[in-house]
Amino acid sequence: MSDSTESLFRLIYASRMSRGTGPKDIEGILEASRRNNPSLGVTGALCYSVRGFVQCLEGDRKAVNDIFRRIVRDSRNEEVTLISYGPAPDRRFAEWTMAYVRADEVDQALLARHGAGREFDPYGLSADQALGLLEDTARERAAFLALQKDKLTVREE
Ligand SMILES: Cc1cc2nc3c(=O)[nH]c(=O)nc-3n(C[C@H](O)[C@H](O)[C@H](O)COP(=O)(O)O)c2cc1C
Repeated sequence: MSDSTESLFRLIYASRMSRGTGPKDIEGILEASRRNNPSLGVTGALCYSVRGFVQCLEGDRKAVNDIFRRIVRDSRNEEVTLISYGPAPDRRFAEWTMAYVRADEVDQALLARHGAGREFDPYGLSADQALGLLEDTARERAAFLALQKDKLTVREE
């Protein structure tokens, strides 16, 4: 996806999953993301853990704000806390309408690499740590999925 650099914005926030919200709701959230984000030109990554969500949204300023406003009002999460917001030189998740990362895939080595402590804590992350963790985990996951696909192809032959 291409943008003029002036119009590209990136927003990262942390939030808690509301009481009564569970893994099934995550499917609905991802469905909405995949339904809405492409036409809005928004890409990003969403990480979910028992401690909460961290999400990165990138795209046109208005589109990012519109989605963020919906999320703040969404009763499936609460205590929405901004980690960073501002113009960005490039997209970090250009190939993802919404990369989905489970926090248990964020391993100790990755946390250590980003100086993010021993346990994944959405509210303890700096902007650089949040972005780095989301990006590295999405990349590792893409490599893993590609590997699975290759294996399946081999099995089919
Ligand atoms: C943690 C979290 C992340 C979400 N991320 C997105 C998103 O990236 N894009 C989106 O359209 N909706 C997202 N939603 C859902 C929106 O709050 C809202 O339900 C949805 O945009 C409504 O879409 P619809 O009118 O097509 O049903 C998210 C919700 C939560 C709780």
